[in-house]
Amino acid sequence: MDNLVGLSSSLLYKPPMCTTVIHAKILHTSLACIVTLPMAPSSCFVALFTLSCTLLLLMGCSDAQLSPDFYSKSCPDVFTGVKSQVESAVSKEPGMGASLLRLFFHDCFVNGCDGSVLLDDTPTFTGEKNAAPNRNSARGFEVIDDVKSAVEKECPGVVSCADLLAITARDSVVLLGGPSWNVKLGRRDARTASQAAANSSLPSPTSNLTDLISSFENAGLSTTDLVALSGSHSIGQANCANFRARIYNETDLDRSFGEIRRKNCPSSAGPGDNNLAPLDLHSPVAFDNTYYTNLLQFKGLLHSDQQLFSGGSTDSLVRTYASSPSTFSSDFAAAMIKMGDILPLTGSDGEVRKNCRKIN
Ligand code: HEM
Ligand SMILES: *[C@@H]1O[C@H](CO)[C@@H](O)[C@H](O)[C@H]1NC(C)=O
Ligand SMILES: *[C@@H]1O[C@H](CO)[C@@H](O)[C@H](O)[C@H]1NC(C)=O
Ligand SMILES: *[C@@H]1O[C@H](CO)[C@@H](O)[C@H](O)[C@H]1NC(C)=O
Repeated sequence: MDNLVGLSSSLLYKPPMCTTVIHAKILHTSLACIVTLPMAPSSCFVALFTLSCTLLLLMGCSDAQLSPDFYSKSCPDVFTGVKSQVESAVSKEPGMGASLLRLFFHDCFVNGCDGSVLLDDTPTFTGEKNAAPNRNSARGFEVIDDVKSAVEKECPGVVSCADLLAITARDSVVLLGGPSWNVKLGRRDARTASQAAANSSLPSPTSNLTDLISSFENAGLSTTDLVALSGSHSIGQANCANFRARIYNETDLDRSFGEIRRKNCPSSAGPGDNNLAPLDLHSPVAFDNTYYTNLLQFKGLLHSDQQLFSGGSTDSLVRTYASSPSTFSSDFAAAMIKMGDILPLTGSDGEVRKNCRKIN
């Protein structure tokens, strides 16, 4: 289980050599038909055609097998089924949309988008739910259970939990007024999880800009992706323990904003640790670009948020997103698709879990 962790930082971006062996073989056949001609012309054509296709695949190998219509035959109504469950959860509690979006991020950054974050601890199995970034914080697992049950009723054993996280994240953003995108599907579920990887692979709210950039780089994501995806903090809440140091000790903080936040977040660790505050003071259940206008006013809640506008290389992009909602929307959607492409299990790797909380 720790072998994935051992490969560490460079692993998350699957290099385009994943199917080299197969390609080498096809290449060989194609060359053979060019060089020696006793082959039937039709088989030459097939080989050359396959060669050009596989070259295309090679260029985007990490996600070559994911596609929005992966279940179009095996579970044609999957999108409708998921959406109605997410709608009902978010209408009961709008904050749930944020929690579902975050689950997908916490899945993808830890050894890829493989549903590992959903596995429960058992006496003999340590999952990721009690890793530092998730403990007393990650939520929405019951909603994923409901989504899974609804989809299992329609198409038993077909749709992976990893894919359900990808769809629920998109649906949550859309329901709260954010952009939409075509969710690529075809991921399979991990048969293991790694608490150690969850502790080390997810960026921390105390991270500086350099740490944040390299954390995203390790996942194959760019600095633009970092700034765009951080716009997720346009929705949802954070625990006092995660922003205490910022509101008591930092100087790149708006005075009145600091005053307000200190009222419900005591300066010392203790019973107030889990007091919540909205990440976006203006519109915590509306997915919009006010996260960036907050940063321009030094009203970022987390240290890591304000780092994106702190005199460094990302300042200009924060300004762009603050002034152009449409640029933010399109960059965010593109970055979500990219995040969803991180190390998927495909083909016969992993499994399609029946219950998202445990391996089959
Ligand atoms: C850039 C590095 C990031 C850091 C350091 C970070 C850190 C955090 C922290 C500390 C919280 C509050 C958790 C709590 O106190 O319970 C939080 C909440 C949240 N994060 Fe991030 N995050 C980052 C990026 C992202 C990304 C890329 C996404 C989604 C694509 C995301 C989505 C969310 C959402 C929606 C919430 C609110 C969750 C809720 O209300 O249940 N974050 N994040
Ligand atoms: C992960 O972090 C938590 C909380 O800090 C700690 O209790 C746990 O031992 C860590 N797990 C691993 C495997 O490093
Ligand atoms: C960022 O934080 C890391 C530790 O997490 C530290 O080693 C590094 O020096 C810091 N970089 C800057 C530019 O402050
Ligand atoms: C603020 O900084 C001081 C000095 O470094 C430290 O003693 C104190 O614990 C910090 N307070 C918070 C809330 O982080």
